[in-house]
Amino acid sequence: MISQKLQKAREYELEKQVEKDQKPLFHITSQVGWINDPNGFSVFENEYHMFFQYHPYSTIWGPMHWGHVKSKDLIHWETMPCALAPDEAYDEAGCFSGSALEWNGKHILAYTAVSRIKNEEGEMEDRQQQAIAIGDGTNYVKLEKNPVITADMLPEGSSKIDFRDPKIFEEDGKIYMVVGSRHQDGSGQMALFSTEDVENWKFENIICQCNNEYGKMWECPDFFELDQKHVLITSPQSMEATGLEMHGGNNVIYFVGEYDKEKKEFRRGKATCVDFGLDFYAPQTTLTKDGRRVMIGWLQNWDNYLTPDRQIWSGMMTIPRELSIKNGKLIQTPIKELDDIWKDHIVFEKTDLNQEKIGNENIAGRVFDMTVKVSGEFNQFKIQVAENEKYHTDLIFYQKDNIFTVDRLVSGMTKDLLTNRSMKINPAKEHTFRIIMDKYSLEIFADDGEKVMSSVVYTTLNADKISFSSDGNASMKVDFKK
Ligand code: FRU
Repeated sequence: MISQKLQKAREYELEKQVEKDQKPLFHITSQVGWINDPNGFSVFENEYHMFFQYHPYSTIWGPMHWGHVKSKDLIHWETMPCALAPDEAYDEAGCFSGSALEWNGKHILAYTAVSRIKNEEGEMEDRQQQAIAIGDGTNYVKLEKNPVITADMLPEGSSKIDFRDPKIFEEDGKIYMVVGSRHQDGSGQMALFSTEDVENWKFENIICQCNNEYGKMWECPDFFELDQKHVLITSPQSMEATGLEMHGGNNVIYFVGEYDKEKKEFRRGKATCVDFGLDFYAPQTTLTKDGRRVMIGWLQNWDNYLTPDRQIWSGMMTIPRELSIKNGKLIQTPIKELDDIWKDHIVFEKTDLNQEKIGNENIAGRVFDMTVKVSGEFNQFKIQVAENEKYHTDLIFYQKDNIFTVDRLVSGMTKDLLTNRSMKINPAKEHTFRIIMDKYSLEIFADDGEKVMSSVVYTTLNADKISFSSDGNASMKVDFKK
């Protein structure tokens, strides 16, 4: 038996479908409506499942449902019926972000149930609590015992309003959950809970605290072992920009550190930005069937709403990225499965690109995987994509300062929002930039995946030329796959 609210969402999304050629080819989107955060990224019965924050009825955020897609290879995604609707008293204001796990043959979803209550001053405020739904890969039943974790289980002084985004994982026969919470100092903390049966949960410890160092509330935690270290990824709200290292507003940071399993304490070092692009938030990871740690993020950010009016769908996810640690840094590499989809491979070389702008008729399009190697002496080396007589999106490498910039000023934006962002890259004689475009998304991997930039570009699809220019003497080799 499914609720009326869920039934309504499932019928609605079936009615509304957009022609495939208008949608990204291998990036997750919804059929219709608004999406944010990836949720429940997991393997169940040998298939990859991804859920997401979802409001089917409009292209802006509304009462949160969980949308659902699945895949065999992380590239081709099949749309599944809406998985959760806010249909219980304890989640009537939304089924917020969470995660999933295969456990004893069942698919376990953990999410934040949001309701509204009148506080002591008579004002309405959120109650955020953790809830469980169990399913078979299509239909999910919420536990009678929900919410299974309430903010009363947190240490005194912790917020009852900001307590969300459970990430569950299995360790030593138990299920653990890290959840974002807010300490009485006003900034984030990560709470750890455990259970042996999914219904009865125990508070373990606060494994890590923000201490007002990196933004305020810490949303969407992920915590995992990688290359003999532990990594905590979180999405802080209300950050202040620090040079090019962190941007303002909602950021995503990671810590590589040591986890004391006995004491349940994570010793964190300095935070590093996960993605330097204009549009990246709330990433989540899972382990692939062959043991790779793979991350997908929301290819958008709260302050940058760019969805064109012509679209009935809003928001997409990044390409899945394999993670590893090298010299204490998190390295991101587009999943290897992507290599199998390309039909054409073109190589284009030019040794003395000087004060000119060049292209190649075979190097064009809005869906491609392009690796550009560049060396020489110049101030700027520029790659323009999604270009026609009216539009262009610029990727500029400033050699002297080792800065890479993405600039979408002339990319058909009809709102006065952020148009460019820059990141510092490591000095080197030759630089390699891997640029992946899938109609409206641009993901750039520099420094072998140590520096990544994800941004959206909603230029109309007929802007599909690509050109290269430099103001000095540049040597370049372009490997173009489409
Ligand atoms: C992050 C977030 C989460 C919350 C969800 C609501 O983008 O704010 O903390 O669960 O979005 O849609």
